Amino acid sequence: MNKTRQKDLGTPASAVEETVKVEIDGLPATVKAGTSILRAARESGVDIPKLCATDSLKPFGSCRLCLVEIEGRKGYPASCTTPVEEGMKIRTQTSKLSQLRRNVMELYISDHPLDCLTCSANGDCELQDMAGAVGLRDVRYGFDGENHLDAPVDASNPYFQFDASKCIVCSRCVRACDEVQGTFALTIEGRGFNSKVSAGISEDFLDSECVSCGACVQACPTATLMEKSIVDHGQPDHAVITTCAYCGVGCSFQAEMKGGQVVRMTPHKDGQANHGHSCVKGRFAWGYASHRDRVLKPMIRENTSDPWHEVEWDEAIQFAADRFKAIQKEYGRKSIGGITSSRCTNEEVFVVQKLVRAAMGNNNVDTCARVCHSPTGYGLNTTLGTSAGTQPFDSVMDADVIMVIGANPTAGHPVFASQMKRRLREGAQLIVVDPRAIGLVRSARIQAAHHLNLLPGTNVPIINALAHVVVSEGLADENYVSERCELDSWDSWKAMILRPENSPEAVAKISGVDAEEIRAAARLYGAAKNGAIYYGLGVTEHSQGSTMVMGMANLAMATGNIGRSGVGVNPLRGQNNVQGSCDMGSFPHELAGYRPVSDVKVRAQFEQHWGTTIDPEPGFRIPNMFDEACAGTFKGMYIQGEDVAQSDPDTHHVEAALRSMECIVVQDLFLNETAKFAHVFLPGTSFLEKDGTFINAERRINRVRPVMEPQQGKDEWRITQDLAQALGYPMNYDTSAQIMDEIAELTPTFNNVSFAFLDEVGSVQWPCNDKAPMGTPIMHVDAFVRGKGLFVETEYVPTEERTNRKFPLLLTTGRILSQYNVGAQTRRTANNVWYGEDVLEVHPSDAEMRGIKDGELVALASRKGDITLHAKITTRVKPGVVYTTFHNPETGANVVTTEYGDWATDCPEYKVTAVQIAPASHRSAWQDEFAARSEEQGRIAKID
Ligand code: SF4
Ligand code: SF4
Ligand code: SF4
Ligand code: FES
Repeated sequence: MNKTRQKDLGTPASAVEETVKVEIDGLPATVKAGTSILRAARESGVDIPKLCATDSLKPFGSCRLCLVEIEGRKGYPASCTTPVEEGMKIRTQTSKLSQLRRNVMELYISDHPLDCLTCSANGDCELQDMAGAVGLRDVRYGFDGENHLDAPVDASNPYFQFDASKCIVCSRCVRACDEVQGTFALTIEGRGFNSKVSAGISEDFLDSECVSCGACVQACPTATLMEKSIVDHGQPDHAVITTCAYCGVGCSFQAEMKGGQVVRMTPHKDGQANHGHSCVKGRFAWGYASHRDRVLKPMIRENTSDPWHEVEWDEAIQFAADRFKAIQKEYGRKSIGGITSSRCTNEEVFVVQKLVRAAMGNNNVDTCARVCHSPTGYGLNTTLGTSAGTQPFDSVMDADVIMVIGANPTAGHPVFASQMKRRLREGAQLIVVDPRAIGLVRSARIQAAHHLNLLPGTNVPIINALAHVVVSEGLADENYVSERCELDSWDSWKAMILRPENSPEAVAKISGVDAEEIRAAARLYGAAKNGAIYYGLGVTEHSQGSTMVMGMANLAMATGNIGRSGVGVNPLRGQNNVQGSCDMGSFPHELAGYRPVSDVKVRAQFEQHWGTTIDPEPGFRIPNMFDEACAGTFKGMYIQGEDVAQSDPDTHHVEAALRSMECIVVQDLFLNETAKFAHVFLPGTSFLEKDGTFINAERRINRVRPVMEPQQGKDEWRITQDLAQALGYPMNYDTSAQIMDEIAELTPTFNNVSFAFLDEVGSVQWPCNDKAPMGTPIMHVDAFVRGKGLFVETEYVPTEERTNRKFPLLLTTGRILSQYNVGAQTRRTANNVWYGEDVLEVHPSDAEMRGIKDGELVALASRKGDITLHAKITTRVKPGVVYTTFHNPETGANVVTTEYGDWATDCPEYKVTAVQIAPASHRSAWQDEFAARSEEQGRIAKID
């Protein structure tokens, strides 16, 4: 049998706690009531043959291979569909059962190409295993009858193929797509001999509804659905368990290896965030790690117009250190700083903020969370007392009403979306608050009860109006509030929320959402036994991002929806380690664990440990760094795994800032857009080479384990450590485990965390300390972390970004399933087949008014700049709103976004830009300039 195949207990675990006693082949066994006989036997070490059953799917009972005998019962029931009962005596092996099973196998094998030795699944095929298990020696029916051996192979999907000639029509793929993924892309077409798996009428996989999650491939017991990487390279010989490096779901994977090469990534069944499921990015889009564009040698150059020189590590690090020291000598200690990356491990991030504080001697460190979830930290900390989400993902299975605000889970957090959809199919109700009809509004077997399609920028009035209805209609949970919240704040908030300007009728005029729809949504959430809020960047990336986060916390507290399973306020974090990079002290005003750098006691603890003094003054945030750079006072930056030139708003301003600096050090896998302005390039490591931890959106600390040596010869934390030493600060770790030990010692919420502990328990949700030795899945259970919950008044202050006659439309941005963030990784994979360029979604009425046709080039102009891109005419957006993504650098979506940001955290207002659109015939001036710069940098990137 294949060495990396995960254990399969045949049917899902029973949720019942009571146990029953049974006898299996004469041996006693105690199992949970409701367990299938098949699973009970497998749990006891008896492998009853099976084909149509697998433990990720409900039992189906179609193959008849798992038959058993039960004392006192007639016939031969299928063990996968028969639950155990107290005192049951089961026989799994008798001569009659063997004969029946062999008959079944003979039928399967008589219509199967017997090419096992050359089949890509050889050694990892359940059909092959079962032929052995039932002792099949002969096929009495012969091989000459009608068969499917000439059925075609569908190789349209870039990552897997469908070879219909090998299909045994067990339906596992169809059920996986329905039950696990929730896409319902596959069906069994026809009947009897003519039945076959189909991805849609006359459609191949690529053109079907399939979202390439891989669940069907995982479930298929034969070589019918098979990863192309296995077809090309053969079966793996060993596996390492690690964590996906894309989004904040933090799925656990088995990296399956053949020698030193990854041949497959399979979602790990024990992964507590994903329970064996995956999406197209983590499952298939890992090829970027060995892409030819990857830079593996350090490089330096005097000026950004010079060619790069490849140098040894020592020379590159000394060059960077000398430049940083010279800048500080000339412009002062605070003239340099650093940015940590949410794509890197906690250990890698921790040493960068330590480098800035201990070696550079200031607090000019910030993280890319500045531009995504910084309002989450501020808003949840202020109201509840902790800067993180309240629930584990599994909590959604107890929710009765789910409100999704400014998030697109099926695109951004697909594995969690599948779990949420499962709960919705079970009967939970859905409210979507989004300017766009995201996939969840209506999809297979899902229909939102309410879609509040508000105008971008009107989140705060909507949340106030929802709260207005809850309070005015007596839906607030007064007992919960009086027991758990600050009553003064409740009274003043209630008075504010009941003001007429917060009524649905008043808010309808501002938001464009019908007042009755707002009322109905509020009643649904307010009356729910368990109401859960999930939100994303559509909440935070606004000038009132922090206000809106507090608005949601207010509403959840008012309705008693915090502190147990099925409820909560949950940020869906963007990048894989955005929670961790914030936890690690990446903000300019906070040390690890969100403790203020201005606090003498906190500083003293770090100073003692680090043997240095720490500046008591908070440092610059990223936008301040750019402003100071343009003003000529900020001159050097160490940028870890972050492409600010593409990802940050108001590109013209960012480029001007980068151009004005004297030393930019970029540490990344690829020469990204920011590297075009850099003087030193330090090659980074992919997740396959990292040894450390990521923290997902549910505060879960997951291990990231290396499956290969760093391809450029150095762990990333060692690069930072070498730079710290070259700057004169003695940083001396031997392993990344030691860095985690220091984090644990210095951070109260991490006190009990270590690599050894994580290796033992799998993963843990912080706080994990003596008070909560096994972690804390649900926050604020008996009391809020801050003591009493604080209601904060959330007055609506409209953004300064306004539409007018010149810029009458509102642009909002987001992302799609197949691409990820700035696209540096996914654009270097076959995922481009689904989405090769950013397009502009335009409502048909706005398009018609301007003579814009589907697929044609349009100019998109704002007060900040203009770009061109192709139009997609769709009713997904409402009239007056246009939408695009920012995955491709040549599009330059951020050329048009503005400098406005959240009042509390400076998180940019990516989601609201006043624009005009018009048909176009050529690229914009910025795009011409970008193309010229790319060509020039491409030419000089040909290393000297
Ligand atoms: S890859 Fe996923 S979405 Fe596509 S058919 Fe298979 S299970 Fe369904
Ligand atoms: S493709 Fe695989 S899982 Fe689907 S019916 Fe055929 S053999 Fe079963
Ligand atoms: S859902 Fe997120 S973490 Fe999971 S596989 Fe997809 S990208 Fe990776
Ligand atoms: S495994 Fe039980 S009927 Fe197929």
